[in-house]
Amino acid sequence: MNFTRCDTTAAWAALQAHFGAQGCHLDLREAFARDPGRFDAFALQAPEVFADLSKNHWDLATRGLLVELARECGLEARRDAMLAGAAINTTESRAVLHTALRAPPGQGLFSDQVHGVLTRMLDFAEAVRDTSSSGIRHVVNIGIGGSDLGPQMVVPALEAFGHPKLTLHFVSNVDGHDITPVLRRLDPAQTLFIIASKTFTTQETLANAAVARDWFLAQGGTDIGRHFVGVTTNLPAAAAFGIHTTFGFWDWVGGRYSLWSAIGLSIAIAIGADHFRALLAGAHAMDRHFATAPLETNLPVQLGLLDLWYRNFHGRTSRSVAPYHQGLKRLPAYLQQLEMESNGKRVDLAGEPLPFGTSPVVWGEPGTNGQHAYFQMLHQGSDVIPVEFIAVKHATHPHADLQAKALANCLAQSAALMLGKTTEAALTESAPTASAELGELTVARHRSFPGNRPSTTLLLDRLTPHALGALIALYEHRVFTSGALWGINSFDQWGVELGKALAGDLLPRLAGPASAADGDGLDASTAGLLAWLKSA
Ligand code: F6P
Repeated sequence: MNFTRCDTTAAWAALQAHFGAQGCHLDLREAFARDPGRFDAFALQAPEVFADLSKNHWDLATRGLLVELARECGLEARRDAMLAGAAINTTESRAVLHTALRAPPGQGLFSDQVHGVLTRMLDFAEAVRDTSSSGIRHVVNIGIGGSDLGPQMVVPALEAFGHPKLTLHFVSNVDGHDITPVLRRLDPAQTLFIIASKTFTTQETLANAAVARDWFLAQGGTDIGRHFVGVTTNLPAAAAFGIHTTFGFWDWVGGRYSLWSAIGLSIAIAIGADHFRALLAGAHAMDRHFATAPLETNLPVQLGLLDLWYRNFHGRTSRSVAPYHQGLKRLPAYLQQLEMESNGKRVDLAGEPLPFGTSPVVWGEPGTNGQHAYFQMLHQGSDVIPVEFIAVKHATHPHADLQAKALANCLAQSAALMLGKTTEAALTESAPTASAELGELTVARHRSFPGNRPSTTLLLDRLTPHALGALIALYEHRVFTSGALWGINSFDQWGVELGKALAGDLLPRLAGPASAADGDGLDASTAGLLAWLKSA
């Protein structure tokens, strides 16, 4: 595949010069003082998402050069190739068409197949939701990675739209401490298990599915065909497991991009067909924005460009995500897979080692909880970490006072990160809990904040299915953008293979009786750990 890697362009060289001359010295407080129009200049409205990009370490010149970089790298052509179904996942010769899953009928590629499965899946979801007929009260999604993190993030986010009589459970970890407490709460006659696995070969999922099936039979469950359904591209493997009701999808849907497919069955059961369709429609609206908005006002593109600017010019190795909405508590975990599995790559599309960094570490917790944990480090630590705040204007709960406090805290944190507090200002304040043994200046130094710490704020009007769909699609396209400029394949994940293979080798050594040959062929550390675990 022909591609232009960012570091080979004229814009990259211009960005280096710009960074050295002024970019690295930008002070947000001075930038706002100089330019009263800065907020407006860096505000963007995309479908459902308003973004304030003004508290970032860039100026109009930086943004102009980054857009030039995108043009030189052929970002628009790469995007159009993805949307047109080209096999841009070159190491697996696969198209990347999660956008087709949310296109309205007749408008996307493979529309008949997509809408055929969607209709069948939503009909099934509605039948389960008719709890007086289905008898179902508990739905357990067994899957891992992309077959877990999307539904596990969306279901609590849309809790306000959830079915009042259905409880959703998510089991992913092969560690039995995950499934065991879930099974304890279930009655087989009232439980539906969804075995969600694109490949239907994933060790964790198959092991947990087998435990669930054994438990079901041991508890007197009688109709596996009614209580177990499968979501997979591997229908024969699901049938071999004993599952007769299956919902398929296709190899052009990457695992971490699959919540829009039948992998979203647990979501559809939780929120119903109409709301699931609204989730898809919101994502589609963001797809249209990504496909058509000029690069200068294209929100996913702008975020992807900022990501590259921080990673490759400022040398920032992580980004913190702080959703000020408890429903989005699993968003950071979801984004970890989306971004780090997609862009955690060290060779380009031609297999050449990259001379620059790629995916940052993405991490975070909902605000305000994070404020009482790691925000100390964000404000006063030795590393500068760009923070992404997400807030929702209208809550779905009735406590206006709590909502006001959540929003006030969100705005306060981004302002505090930027404004900081000088030692002189700290000296003028009283600090009742400060030690009287230390000099005032020493205390003031401890109490000062450097400020000039960057952040982005994303605002939603309400956390509806439509808005959440748009927000998730925004992140998908942002990851695409930085990956395309880096010239990497954002759609494979070979880095998970080695550990899987080694686990396959270690399993029989661990499970069998202790033998002198247990450590044969292993490195000394692994052999030593194995021996400790097998010792009496
Ligand atoms: O961790 C690797 C991975 O392949 C992910 O990309 C994927 O989401 C996950 O495993 C689960 O795979 P499957 O849906 O095939 O069980």
